[in-house]
Amino acid sequence: AQIPQAVNEEVKSYAPGSLERAQLLDAYKKMFNEVTEVPQYIGSEEIFSGNKKEIRPPHDHQKVVGYYHEGTQNDVNKAIDTALAAKDAWVAMPWEDRAAIFLKAADLIAGPYRAKLNAATMIGQSKNAMQAEIDAACEFIDFLRFNVQYMTEIYADQPISAPGIWNRVDYRPLEGFTFAITPFNFTAIAGNLPSCMALMGNVVVWKPSDKQLLAAHVTMEIFKKAGLPDGVINLVLTDGAETAKTVLEHKDFAGLHFTGSTKVFNALWKQIGDNIDQYRTYPRIVGETGGKDFVMVHKSACATEVAVGLVRGAFEYQGQKCSAASRAYIPSNLWNEVEKQMKEMLATVTLGSPEDLSNFVTAVIDKNSFEKSKAYIDRAKASNEAEVVIGGTYDDSVGYFVHPTVIKATNPKYESMVEEIFGPVLSVYVYDENEFEATLKLVDETSAYALTGSIFSKERSAVEVASKALKNACGNFYINDKPTGAVVGQQPFGGARASGTNDKAGSAMNLLRWTSVQTIKETF
Ligand code: SER
Repeated sequence: AQIPQAVNEEVKSYAPGSLERAQLLDAYKKMFNEVTEVPQYIGSEEIFSGNKKEIRPPHDHQKVVGYYHEGTQNDVNKAIDTALAAKDAWVAMPWEDRAAIFLKAADLIAGPYRAKLNAATMIGQSKNAMQAEIDAACEFIDFLRFNVQYMTEIYADQPISAPGIWNRVDYRPLEGFTFAITPFNFTAIAGNLPSCMALMGNVVVWKPSDKQLLAAHVTMEIFKKAGLPDGVINLVLTDGAETAKTVLEHKDFAGLHFTGSTKVFNALWKQIGDNIDQYRTYPRIVGETGGKDFVMVHKSACATEVAVGLVRGAFEYQGQKCSAASRAYIPSNLWNEVEKQMKEMLATVTLGSPEDLSNFVTAVIDKNSFEKSKAYIDRAKASNEAEVVIGGTYDDSVGYFVHPTVIKATNPKYESMVEEIFGPVLSVYVYDENEFEATLKLVDETSAYALTGSIFSKERSAVEVASKALKNACGNFYINDKPTGAVVGQQPFGGARASGTNDKAGSAMNLLRWTSVQTIKETF
């Protein structure tokens, strides 16, 4: 069957006076002034446990915009049983019907739910309107549509046959149930992890970050409205560590789809190892974890392109993308100009609530995150190996606001050059412009993570040298561009080393992990 050809969803501009802007602001005001109650979704039930936990916007932490109803390990066990009970009917459903459900979800987001899902992402995760639009609307829609296309391509990929023999492969879902653990920083990733496994015929227990629940709640509403059968994706609002223990001890656990920290992923992997004897099948383990993404600049680069790439790459969404530029290596001939231009650009950006669409910077996700950025900034101010050259101020009286900050380190292994901060803090090392190759070596050596990276150069030969030297230092390599903003269908996304299993979100490579192929040979 032919399916609709996937194309990337167009990014709306929310220009002043536009209908889309009015709709977005209406949705924002409504959600901000109402109290949203977020239940668990298990099978056909929406469970309001009564054990209510507050939801507060990071940019306005005294305001309660809702509550989520925390569940217990009984709910997790119920979610597993419910998922397993829904499995046979889901597997028996023709793939066209599964595809139609998720294509409909994409259309619901593109149309009637766009403002609501963007508003939930702006309020709950403090994204500005543009960052919400490219995530909760465009990237999520793209994941849903492209995954359907990849699924059909996978199913069409069949072995050759021979006279008297018909060979084929059946892309079965995994035997058992799957587990999605999703992060706060992308509504699209949170929605993609459970839905792509479900698309391939799996049933899912979904444990979202408790910092992303307004949007996760709207996402479940959309899946249900699109016709997703009860029990295929079950959302639990439970303690992360306890939930992992319950799920990973279950004999029918068949796969983990994780996005979050390296530390948590390592702990989960060990738990899976400890439980390996009791599983019915070897579980699939797919994780996208941390990053310490680099921008390497050659002396031939254009200073303006570098400055724009750094400001956008490091500070969009307050540096809370796993792909964010967080360390830069600038040649001595360009540093003064790059610094000057970054200063000028950052002097014009404003910081505040996402409700004011002119704000480029809003808050970081929570108090811990605020304290972490603050500590790196304070230590840099006191260090004799680093200085704060731009920004360096913060204020958590209303929301968790940290000004875009640039730390210049004289030691390329200074803590902020090598440790993940996950906030609006960029570290820069200025190298002797004639030490390009030695600096490339240094970048690779200090890449414990290997998610994204950029090279800026006007000389092709320098691009070639950098491409070779940094081959294993990142999973997504950008030439003359910032290291963020991978587009589904265009730049399959993921990294290796401590950044994950590199199973490229939004690609057939990822979807294949959620199948267990049966080969069938029939002779005539
Ligand atoms: N896919 C996002 C980006 O490329 C990060 O998860 O920025």
